Amino acid sequence: MDKKKILVIHGPNLNMLGQREPGHYGAGTIDDINRKIAEKATAQGFIVDCFQSNSEGRIVDKIQSAIGECDALIINPAAYTHTSVAIRDAVLLLTIPVVEVHLSNIDKREAFRHRSLIADVVSGRISGFGGKGYLLALEAVADTLTEARAK
Ligand code: DQA
Repeated sequence: MDKKKILVIHGPNLNMLGQREPGHYGAGTIDDINRKIAEKATAQGFIVDCFQSNSEGRIVDKIQSAIGECDALIINPAAYTHTSVAIRDAVLLLTIPVVEVHLSNIDKREAFRHRSLIADVVSGRISGFGGKGYLLALEAVADTLTEARAK
């Protein structure tokens, strides 16, 4: 059986992890997070592609590129979570499991962060567990894909 392909997308300013508001986002860098994602994904038998962009259009392009190519999407749209109809519409193009991840617990923060424009179009959300959230998302994806295969 072919290996399942998982796309991980990190939105704007997440390239600055490590320097950026460590009280909210921790001390680890995006490279640290991506290394742990790659290790876990490999152990699970997945192929993983980790992508970061500060540009809304590039994120939309990357989501579109998953159509027919990827088996699941894990996405932290960062600030675009709260503003981007374009990213929501791109997620709606997908028929694969989509997990929304946030490092911080967005519901415990400013009111403008409580609204996610993708919350109602994703499979589920993991928020508030720092970089570990991506690893939990990989577990959720593995379960979802296994359940789908069993049906
Ligand atoms: C974030 C939360 C967003 O509100 C914020 O704009 C980010 C990161 C998180 O991972 O906690 O950039 O998505």
